[in-house]
Amino acid sequence: MSNSTDAAEALLAEVARIRSEATTRLDTIPDATGVEALRVEVLGRSGSLTALLRRLGNVPPADRPAVGRTANEARQELETAFAERLERLAQGELSDRLAHEALDMTAPGRPVRVGHLHPLMTVERDLREIFHAFGFEVFEGPEIESDLMNFELLNIPPDHPSRDLWDTLYVAEPGSVEAGSPRPAEDGTTLRPHTSPVQIRAMRTLAPPIRVLMPGRCYRYEAVDAAHGFEFFQVEGLVVDRDTSLADLKGVLEEFARAMFGADTRTRFRPGYYPFTEPSAAFDIGCLVCGGPGCPACGRTGWMTILGAGMVHPTVLRNGGLDPDEFQGYAFGMGLDRLTLLRHAIPDLRLLMSADLRFLEQFSGGR
Ligand code: DAH
Repeated sequence: MSNSTDAAEALLAEVARIRSEATTRLDTIPDATGVEALRVEVLGRSGSLTALLRRLGNVPPADRPAVGRTANEARQELETAFAERLERLAQGELSDRLAHEALDMTAPGRPVRVGHLHPLMTVERDLREIFHAFGFEVFEGPEIESDLMNFELLNIPPDHPSRDLWDTLYVAEPGSVEAGSPRPAEDGTTLRPHTSPVQIRAMRTLAPPIRVLMPGRCYRYEAVDAAHGFEFFQVEGLVVDRDTSLADLKGVLEEFARAMFGADTRTRFRPGYYPFTEPSAAFDIGCLVCGGPGCPACGRTGWMTILGAGMVHPTVLRNGGLDPDEFQGYAFGMGLDRLTLLRHAIPDLRLLMSADLRFLEQFSGGR
């Protein structure tokens, strides 16, 4: 009998060992995978406690219920312990994650990289502001224009010699590039060589009194050098009203020159020629480099030409849908690139389009 008792006691001792060993190990297991591995090792189909229960047959029948009860208690206790450990691990993970994700309201902000305007656009904005004060609104037109808009409606017929003033970049006839024989579009569509066609669009869209500023990008077939680009910016102005005179034009341009270049800027008008104005004028300011005596920058004349202007030709008014007997107007056009070079004493126009940050970052302090 003592043998059977020994067998029962041996099993009970083993249950106690398995239970305490599993409980101890459980506390140090760091994750759910480890808990599951231990559960299989002890309670799985070939786990240590399961195997032990299979040996219950060796125990004398009288002792079996007691040993079986103890083993089952151990199994239940361990199952509960595994479940609790899993629960605690899950909570720990959550709070770990929260600790990492927590928003620290006291942390210093990350600096935001702020860009700045290109010097050309700063000058354009200044022009908009100055002319806004004179009552001008901004009106914009397309960069691709027909021959009609670019030239004919501006009183420049086909084959007129004045067309030589504008070296034109033609848009290809649709399909001709694909066919391997590019040729200019039959309707003479071009990248606009100046902003003057927007005058026609403004007159046809708005009703007098008209006071518009028309900034935009222009293109010409140019040999590119320090003073010429094939892509550049112009700002066009147009005023149409009753009783508008050359005196109004002079007054506005002189005020503009002072607002742009300083109160003591000297100005002068010279006769000029443009097909769309009559009379036409060139408008000069005193050389910004030498201030008068003459230097290489002003061709030793003491003057710099900054724009062309004049009274709108009656034919152009008519083409804009207005009666020249009722309305008169003046117009002017200037190159933004040249104004920008003058303002910053930049020696080469090509720098403006170079996209070179070493050049551009020098203007980060501008408005
Ligand atoms: N469109 C002229 C050019 O590109 C500039 C110009 C001259 C515009 C006289 C005007 C003007 O409005 O009246 O050279």
